[in-house]
Amino acid sequence: MSVKGDIGVIGLAVMGQNLILNMNDKGFKVVAYNRTTSKVDEFLQGPAKGTNIIGAYSLEDLAAKLEKPRKVMLMVRAGDVVDQFIDALVPHLEEGDIIIDGGNSNYPDTNRRVQALAEKGIRFVGSGVSGGEEGARHGPSIMPGGNQEAWQYVQPILQAISAKTDKGEPCCDWVGKDGSGHFVKMVHNGIEYGDMQLICEAYQFLKDGLGLSYTEMQEIFQSWKQTELDSYLIDITTDILGYKDADGEPLVEKILDTAGQKGTGKWTGINALDFGIPLTLITESVFARCVSAFKDQRVNASSLFGKTIGKVEGDKKAWVEAVRRALLASKIISYAQGFMLIREASENFGWDINYGGTALLWREGCIIRSRFLGNIRDAYETNPDLIFLGSDPYFKGILENCLADWRKVVAKSIEIGLPVPCMASAITFLDGYTSERLPANLLQAQRDYFGAHTYERTDKPRGEFFHTNWTGRGGNTASTKYDV
Ligand code: 6PG
Repeated sequence: MSVKGDIGVIGLAVMGQNLILNMNDKGFKVVAYNRTTSKVDEFLQGPAKGTNIIGAYSLEDLAAKLEKPRKVMLMVRAGDVVDQFIDALVPHLEEGDIIIDGGNSNYPDTNRRVQALAEKGIRFVGSGVSGGEEGARHGPSIMPGGNQEAWQYVQPILQAISAKTDKGEPCCDWVGKDGSGHFVKMVHNGIEYGDMQLICEAYQFLKDGLGLSYTEMQEIFQSWKQTELDSYLIDITTDILGYKDADGEPLVEKILDTAGQKGTGKWTGINALDFGIPLTLITESVFARCVSAFKDQRVNASSLFGKTIGKVEGDKKAWVEAVRRALLASKIISYAQGFMLIREASENFGWDINYGGTALLWREGCIIRSRFLGNIRDAYETNPDLIFLGSDPYFKGILENCLADWRKVVAKSIEIGLPVPCMASAITFLDGYTSERLPANLLQAQRDYFGAHTYERTDKPRGEFFHTNWTGRGGNTASTKYDV
C-alpha cells in the first residue's frame, strides 16, 4: 500500500464516516477531512481508531496527503455547499485530479460542474449513493456519471465498497456522461417515494378498511416477503409494524401523520413534466406527502365534511391477497414509468444509459432494492428496446393476473372513502396507455374551437392539420403550430 492516501473524503457526517470506514475495510487508505476540524479528531479517536484512516486539517493538507491523480469525494449537503468546497479545493489540485460528488445533487448542477471543471483540467464525477447509513457502511448502491476519463481511477474503489448481487456483481457501474449518475439517483428516489406511498396505501386498507391488528398486519407483510414483493421497504415495514413503544403500543400509531421531503421526488416530477413523460404514480406520491403536510387544514376539513372511512366487508383473506396484487401491479407501473423517464432523458441528452444495468445498480444496497429489480434487469437484457416494462412477458403476466383484484381494491377504496392516489393513478395510467382510442379527439376539437389550434383527422395521413370554423363566426386562419 502506498504511504499516501488512495482517496480523500470531505464531510464527516454519518454517510461520510461510514463510507470511509467501508473503504478502509476494503484496503484503501483514506484521508478524512471536515470543515470543523475537531470532527476529524473525534472521528480518528472514535469510530476510526485502530484503522489506517488518516486525518487532514486543511484542504491543502488533504491534497498533500493524496496519491496522484488525487481523488477527493465530497460527502456534503447538496447545493451551494458543493460549489463552495469545489471552489476552495481546486487551487490545491492539479490537472487530471478527480472530484466525486456523492451527495443528492440536482443533475443540472452536475452537468454544469462537469463542464466547468473540465475547462480547468479537473475530472468531475457526480455519483448517486443510496442505502442510508447501513448501506454506506456495508455496501451502498453507487451510480457514478460525469467525466468518463475519471472512471478507470475511481472504479476499483467504488466497486469494492458497493453492494454486490448474489452472483457477486457490483451494484456500481458507470452510468454515462454529465449529470446522468445523479439523474438516475433522482429517479431512484422518485421510485422510492412511490414504493413508500404504495405500501402506506396497502397498510391503510388493511388497518382502516379491513380493521386488522398490528400483529395481523405484521404477519401479512412478513408473508409478502415470500412473494414478488420481497424488498427492503417491505422488510423494514414488517419491523416497524411490530415495533412497540414503552407502553407496549405500536410506536407507528403515535407518529404524527405529516410526511417530510428533501426534494428529490419533486425534482423527478418536475423532470417528468419537462420531458412530457406521464410519471403519474411518483408525482402522486409527492402530492400525497404534500396533502399529509396540511395537518391543520385536514383536521378542520375532516370535521367540516364529517369524514369517515367505511369498513370492507367479505372474506378478509381474499381481500388481503387482493391488496397484495394491487400493490404489486401498481409497483410495476411505477417502475415502468420511471424507466420511461430515464429513457427519455438518456435519448435527449445522448447519455446512452443501459437500462438493464440501471436495474442491476438498484438490485442491492439501495433503498428500493428488491427481488423484482432482478426481473427488470432480465427484461431489459432480453430486450434493450423495451419501451413499456408492462409489455415484457414476465411483467405482463403479473399485470394480467392482478388486474381484477387491483380494480376491486381501488374501487372499494373510493367507495369507502380511503385515499389511494398511487394505486388509482397506476390503474388509470394502464387503462389510458392500453386504450387504442382516448377522448382526446374531443379535446382537440375544443382546442380548435376556441383557439384555432387545429387537429389531425382519422381519415387523413398523420401530419396534415385541419381547422374548422365551428361557429361560422370564426375565421379560417389557424393559429401557429407548435407543441411542447
Ligand atoms: C437513499 C435515499 C436518500 C434520501 C432520503 C431522504 O437512496 O439512500 O434516497 O438519498 O436522502 O431517503 O429522502 P426524503 O427526505 O426526500 O424522503
